[in-house]
Amino acid sequence: MDNLLVRAQNLSKYFTDSSGIHKAVDGVSLNIHRGETLGIVGESGSGKTTLGRTIMRLYRPEHGQIWFDGKEITNLNKGKLRPYRKEIQMIFQNPYESLSPRFTVGEILEEPLYIQKIGTKKERMDKALRLLEKVGLPRTSYHRKIHEFSGGQRQRIGIARALILEPKLVIADEPVSALDVSVQAQVLNLLKDLQAELNLTCLFISHDLSVVHYMSDRVAVMYLGHLIELAPKEELYRNPIHPYTKSLLASIPVADPERRNPYREPIILPEKPLYPPQLVNIGNDHYVSANMIHIKKFEIESYQQEMSYYK
Ligand SMILES: Nc1ncnc2c1ncn2[C@@H]1O[C@H](COP(=O)(O)OP(=O)(O)O)[C@@H](O)[C@H]1O
Ligand SMILES: [Mg+2]
Repeated sequence: MDNLLVRAQNLSKYFTDSSGIHKAVDGVSLNIHRGETLGIVGESGSGKTTLGRTIMRLYRPEHGQIWFDGKEITNLNKGKLRPYRKEIQMIFQNPYESLSPRFTVGEILEEPLYIQKIGTKKERMDKALRLLEKVGLPRTSYHRKIHEFSGGQRQRIGIARALILEPKLVIADEPVSALDVSVQAQVLNLLKDLQAELNLTCLFISHDLSVVHYMSDRVAVMYLGHLIELAPKEELYRNPIHPYTKSLLASIPVADPERRNPYREPIILPEKPLYPPQLVNIGNDHYVSANMIHIKKFEIESYQQEMSYYK
C-alpha cells in the first residue's frame, strides 16, 4: 500500500467579491503520509481553513490536483465524492455550532452511521457508547443534549462524532481555540492518545505554534495563501529558514526569562510574491519556499561547501 494518503499538487482556491479576486490558497503542494499528523500553522487569514476544505473537496480548486488514497479526486462531482465524505472527517473549532442542540448525544453520534446505512440500531448504539467511553465521557451522556455539557465535553462529543465512521483522514481545524486554556490541554491529550491508539492520519490546523508543535510530526507554515516552509517539527523549530517562520517562532511567548532572547530583532516580512514560490528541499526533509535567485544562491553555497571538503 502506498504510504501517501493525500497528495496535493499546486492547489489554488480563489474567492471573488466586489473588490476582486482573493487568492486564499495559492499554489500549495504537500503530502500527508499514512499515520502521521501534519500540522498547518499560520496567522488568521493565511488560508489554513480554505486549504483543509479544498483537500476535503468541500471546495473545488481553481488549479492543481488532489489525490486521496491513490485516486485523483480533484474534479469528482457530488455523487462520485460521496464515498470520500465518509473517509475524511472534520473536527471543528466550535462544537456547539457544529452539533445540533435539538438532538441527544446518541442521535448526534449515530447520525453519520444512519446516513451511511451502517449497522443495525443496536450496533449503532453500541458503537456510540463505545466511542463515548473512548473520549472519556460517561455512558449516561448518550441520552443528554449538548447544552448540558461544558465546552471541553462538547469538543469530546465532536471528536467522537468525527471518529464514528472510522475515517482515513481527520482534519482538526483549530479544535481547541474556542476552549478555556485550562481544558485545552485535556482535549489535546485526548486527541494525541486517540492518534496513537487508532493510528489516525491527521491534518491539524492551528494559529498556535506551541499547540501545533505538541500535536504534529511535520509542520507546514502558511503565509498569505502560500506554503512557505515544511519540515519535521524538531527540524523546523530548531532550524527555521524562511524569515516569516523565524518571526512566527520569535513571537511565541517564552515563560522562562532565562530562555528569552533579549536580542530578538524585528523581522521585516517578505511581500507576497507575484507567483507561488517553489519549495526547495534543503535536506533533512526540510522544504523552504524560494525564488530562482534564492535557489541559485543556495546551489552555489552548497557547491562551495562541498568543494571546501576537498581542500
Ligand atoms: N467563503 C469565503 N468567501 C470569501 N472569502 C473567503 C471565504 N473563506 C475564506 N475567505 C478569505 O480567504 C482568506 C483565507 O481565509 P481562511 O482560509 O479562513 O484563513 P485561516 O483559516 O488561515 O484563518 C481570507 O482572506 C478570507 O477572508
Ligand atoms: Mg481558519
